[in-house]
Amino acid sequence: MSHLAGRIAAKFALVHSLSSRGYPREARDLGITQRMAGPEEGRPVVQLPAGLPACDLSITHSHELAVAVVTERGRVGADLERVSPRSAALIDEVFTEAEQEWLSQCELLRGRTPDERWNLGWCIKEALVKCTGHGLRASLQQVTFSGWTEQGAASVSIPLLTDEPGALAQLITLHSEGVGSGPLTGLLALGQGYAFAALHHPSEGRSLEFVA
Ligand SMILES: CC(C)(COP(=O)(O)OP(=O)(O)OC[C@H]1O[C@@H](n2cnc3c(N)ncnc32)[C@H](O)[C@@H]1OP(=O)(O)O)[C@@H](O)C(=O)NCCC(=O)NCCS
Repeated sequence: MSHLAGRIAAKFALVHSLSSRGYPREARDLGITQRMAGPEEGRPVVQLPAGLPACDLSITHSHELAVAVVTERGRVGADLERVSPRSAALIDEVFTEAEQEWLSQCELLRGRTPDERWNLGWCIKEALVKCTGHGLRASLQQVTFSGWTEQGAASVSIPLLTDEPGALAQLITLHSEGVGSGPLTGLLALGQGYAFAALHHPSEGRSLEFVA
């Protein structure tokens, strides 16, 4: 069911992205497959009719929500998690000391619960390994970030996620060891008991489309 919800979100995101670029198409004309082998096995692949510009896509689902993120250039990775307790052992396994310090103390997360902080941090790490396509085959200790720079509140809400008072929807830039060169841009969100991160590795691209 969540797999299907992810595919539906992906089709909506693709239709919206293509249409906003002057290529209106029906969802049934757009294919979504995945890499069947190799180091990026499982990573979604967009198959478009001839003549349409390429897109990159990331899909995530958790419980009753699914989100898909599309970019016209570069690569994207997204992760959605229901906020839940994370053990000290898991935190030490996933996060470097610098990441733990940042997530515990950064101003953006002031007033948020420890569970919200660790789940948002987990989403960032998973978005990074989904961006590379290596997924959890890669050690999450090898794709690191030392913090982020805030780039303002996101101007759009993500339906069912950030449309409640007090929800967080923040644009950021972030540097990561292990995900190419240059900064990634992205969106961090907390709301309705969920954490979400979407990251975009640049090339020269910029736009992200979200569908929840
Ligand atoms: C990609 C991965 C991190 C997703 O983890 P998750 O939090 O359970 O699931 P999410 O809902 O956030 O994401 C699932 C989606 O990620 C996408 N995905 C799968 N493999 C991917 C990869 N290598 N790179 C990027 N995206 C991938 C798919 O679209 C998948 O949706 P689907 O299952 O409906 O096809 C994890 O499944 C993974 O690492 N897979 C590859 C390695 C593997 O299979 N390891 C065995 C477990 S350690």
